[in-house]
Amino acid sequence: MHIHKFEKIWLTFGIGALIVFLTVLGVSAFYVGNQPPSCLATVNPEKVDTTAPFDQPGLKKVEGKDWDYELVFVAQAFAYTPGDVEVPLGAKVKVIATTKDVIHGFQVAGTNINMMLTPGYINEIVTTFDKAGEYLILCNEYCGTGHHMMTSKIRVVE
Ligand code: CUA
Repeated sequence: MHIHKFEKIWLTFGIGALIVFLTVLGVSAFYVGNQPPSCLATVNPEKVDTTAPFDQPGLKKVEGKDWDYELVFVAQAFAYTPGDVEVPLGAKVKVIATTKDVIHGFQVAGTNINMMLTPGYINEIVTTFDKAGEYLILCNEYCGTGHHMMTSKIRVVE
């Protein structure tokens, strides 16, 4: 009778520990898959062209925010809009990006910007371009036959 009771306690404890373990595993897998602070907001991928701010891609000066400019990108097979953009040297820029079709990468060579654009989600990252020059934007997620041609350029100018 007593042994049976102990078995029950240990069984309960064991299952409890397993649940905690799986929860921790699941939560950490979720965070690894989503690069913070990206993917917090959503957008209808079929209405990207008519949804602000994606209805006006490109660089925009903003007031009263922690950043000076917003740089909006729309990705689709196999290009980014804008295809080429100028950013003033030293500007603190919030990059806002999404995709209209499939998953695309958004890596800015020579910076720490490396995002995965997923249909339905908005990726955002704040960065300061403090070195003049040309920065290539690359798609690093395979997205189809034109994947290797999918690039854009940020020109940081004084
Ligand atoms: Cu877009 Cu690869």
